[in-house]
Amino acid sequence: MIRPSARLESLPKYAIHELAVIKRRMLSEGVDVIDLSAGDADFPPPAVAVEALREAVGDPAMSRYPFQVGLAEFRRAAAGYIERRFGVTFDPASELLPLLGSKEGLLHLALAVLNPGDVCVVPDPGYPAYIGGALLADAEAELVPLRAEQDFLVELEELPPEKLARTGLVYLNYPNNPTTAVAPLEYLERTVDVCRRYDILLAYDNPYCEITFEDYRAPSIFEVEGARDVAVEFHSVSKSFSMTGWRLGWAIGNPDLIALLSRIKTYVDTGVFMAVQKAGAAVLDEAETLVAPLRERFRERRDAAVRALADIGLPVEPPRGTMYLWVPLPSGVGSAAFAKEVLENQGVVLMPGTAFGQGGEGYFRIALTVDSERLTEAVQRVGRALERLGAPRA
Ligand SMILES: Cc1ncc(COP(=O)(O)O)c(C=O)c1O
Repeated sequence: MIRPSARLESLPKYAIHELAVIKRRMLSEGVDVIDLSAGDADFPPPAVAVEALREAVGDPAMSRYPFQVGLAEFRRAAAGYIERRFGVTFDPASELLPLLGSKEGLLHLALAVLNPGDVCVVPDPGYPAYIGGALLADAEAELVPLRAEQDFLVELEELPPEKLARTGLVYLNYPNNPTTAVAPLEYLERTVDVCRRYDILLAYDNPYCEITFEDYRAPSIFEVEGARDVAVEFHSVSKSFSMTGWRLGWAIGNPDLIALLSRIKTYVDTGVFMAVQKAGAAVLDEAETLVAPLRERFRERRDAAVRALADIGLPVEPPRGTMYLWVPLPSGVGSAAFAKEVLENQGVVLMPGTAFGQGGEGYFRIALTVDSERLTEAVQRVGRALERLGAPRA
């Protein structure tokens, strides 16, 4: 019998799998299911992306292998956007790399820099590609709990110096999925300083930098002096422009670090379809105009969901960034069992906090992927589930 590798077996089971099976069964039975699980909003992609793609597929040159170099036009557009948006300059040829979505880049970076037994710092809860990168690289995953009382920040200096000395890579993500926390610049400065002192590569995952509210503006790690020595930052068109399925992102960093990522990817993929890169370039040239209305629509949804949660006795602070709400459950209610109960009895798919690691126990995540009316309806159903459980609330 062919058996899975020990490496594959070491990965945590994707908790959402069981919920997906139940959801499919319920849909086939005609149940009105509201799915707030994946960060995949129902907005259409920008018309400019669709038009650029339509035109590009007619050009046979676009059908050739892109290789890691890809399309110069995309590199220029991405570097131009980064410069306008964050005031930092990256050479499009040597300091930027197109990715098949940021997820693969995050994971492959671990394979490019970690040796077996190195420590890799992984926020818990955190986006699953981080632990995937650590474990597939045979590294030691150091799960750092994100706690509300520490504003969900990873405080590297709380790790013992011996551990930091063995650490090769740290994953950080703010605005954060799933906790919705944002990171003050002073925190980022402190963190870059630790990484520089211990020679740790900092993978700064920034796919939600455009999904921010009121006057909050999410920074790039490269706004911190000295970050270029130690950081690679990941960006994506997925969330900022509602293009999750297009699989397009990019990494920026110093030429040596970008070359490491490119080298490993040479053995894995042969680049992003150039017609998609063409569409990405069109979108990034108009990023500011395209993102403003999207932000506003996410804000309306956020406010509607926050109001509905308060009404059912689960108050949360309106987050300053991301397309999620991170909701604490009443004490004694387990997040996996609750998500199953809400789906089976109320037809709402939520992410149990534990889908992001054991550190997510006691929470669930709502993605703002449907309109305000449906979100309100979903939250009311969550309230009915809590009533059924007789759970105490605020
Ligand atoms: C924190 C975080 N990083 C990366 C990604 C991956 O995005 P992409 O679609 O660019 O692979 C996601 C998607 O949900 C995410 O939440």
